[in-house]
Amino acid sequence: MDRIALTGGTPLNGSIRVSGAKNSALKLQAASLLTAEPLVLTNMPELADTRFMVELLAQLGVEIFWPKGSGRLSMHGETLSSSIAPYDLVRKMRATFNVLGPLLAREGHATVSLPGGCAIGARPVDLHLKAFEAMGADIVIEAGYVKAAALRGLKGARVMFPFASVGATEHAMLAATLARGETVLENAAREPEIVDLADCLKAMGAQIEGAGSSTIHIQGVEKLGGATWNVMPDRIEAGTYACCAAAAGGEVLLTSVVPETLSALLDVLTRAGVRVETGPDWVRIARDPATRLKAVDIDTQPYPGFPTDLQAQVMGLVTLASGASIFKENIFENRFMHAPELRRLGADITVRGSEAVVRGVEHLRGAPVMATDLRASVSLVIAGLMAEGETVISRVYHLDRGFERLEDKLSACGAQIRRIKSGEEG
Ligand code: EPZ
Repeated sequence: MDRIALTGGTPLNGSIRVSGAKNSALKLQAASLLTAEPLVLTNMPELADTRFMVELLAQLGVEIFWPKGSGRLSMHGETLSSSIAPYDLVRKMRATFNVLGPLLAREGHATVSLPGGCAIGARPVDLHLKAFEAMGADIVIEAGYVKAAALRGLKGARVMFPFASVGATEHAMLAATLARGETVLENAAREPEIVDLADCLKAMGAQIEGAGSSTIHIQGVEKLGGATWNVMPDRIEAGTYACCAAAAGGEVLLTSVVPETLSALLDVLTRAGVRVETGPDWVRIARDPATRLKAVDIDTQPYPGFPTDLQAQVMGLVTLASGASIFKENIFENRFMHAPELRRLGADITVRGSEAVVRGVEHLRGAPVMATDLRASVSLVIAGLMAEGETVISRVYHLDRGFERLEDKLSACGAQIRRIKSGEEG
């Protein structure tokens, strides 16, 4: 298994082009199942997760053309050969569960493995299934699989989510595009990735209004056509590099970003004493490495609140800040797994239930640490950039799920970071 070694203490200077958003791309990939015509995604991130999704789509009969390094994924599901998503593919990555709704809408039936829990929380899919039941699907859970059928097609329905779930909102929206009549999603999630998905579906011929607000109206259509769609920039990747620059000091220009989607983080960075400047599609992050960051409090919330996917990164960042930072994680039950690893570098962090207190220390010292999940793994990179000496992060396959060429992007700005390939000596 690969590891990442980095030596802290070097400021970052330069620019980083942000990739297409993983969490948007995965749902856009699922949309290819809704049409017999090609769906082409540009600005497509090449990640372990997007490759898992391609593997599953190919198994369902979608023809895939994705030249390496092209950033252009073409998916053509002219006829589908299967409507079964097996355990082996769904267990690798939860977002593959999102093929259920499109298969159900287009084929009238689907059998998809239950995704199961994951390290950051139980993550049930009850809200997804309730939405499909409201649209007239019969759902049976048997031997770890969800068997869904709507043999005469899905019908429009009013769905009220008790919690604004990102996945359930996207999944219900995908399916509703081909349902008979109107579907209204209430208390829908408002994440920018939902707007990206809705806009792509509209380019394919869907009738959707209100994506990005808490009520979404979808008027079902007979069929959808193909489209070419540019995946939105990854706000979590952008936010992560903003934290890297803030941690190491120096000046980094992030390009190909939508600054509005980063407002909650940029406010926090400004409060911490980081210089933030924004333009139409760029953000500049600067900090004099001789100054000390200030403590900040974080309360994760659905968009436009502070994203849970950036909580670990800010925790890494404030380990050296002056004062105590309080973190409240409201989205997932178990998302502080980075805390014990950050402590190995010398951080002072106390976790009590859904709250963590980080008391800023004077120094961090490099150590061997272990990545425990995707965003936890980059919080170790951020802390490693500030630590004295070398930090070696193992289990970087977590990081490869969601960050494209992270070590190349950071080393281009001067970071001392390298990948140690499996079998190579450190
Ligand atoms: C998406 O997960 C993202 N994943 C997550 O990013 C992100 O952290 C999360 O949204 C919140 O922003 C993808 O887009 C692939 P939710 P999702 O449904 O859709 C509970 C990353 O690191 N819930 O909004 O699964 C659930 O357990 C990942 O890139 C139910 O109870 O998030 C959680 O506590 C991690 N029943 C809360 O809602 C349901 O049916 C929020 O989940 C669905 C969700």
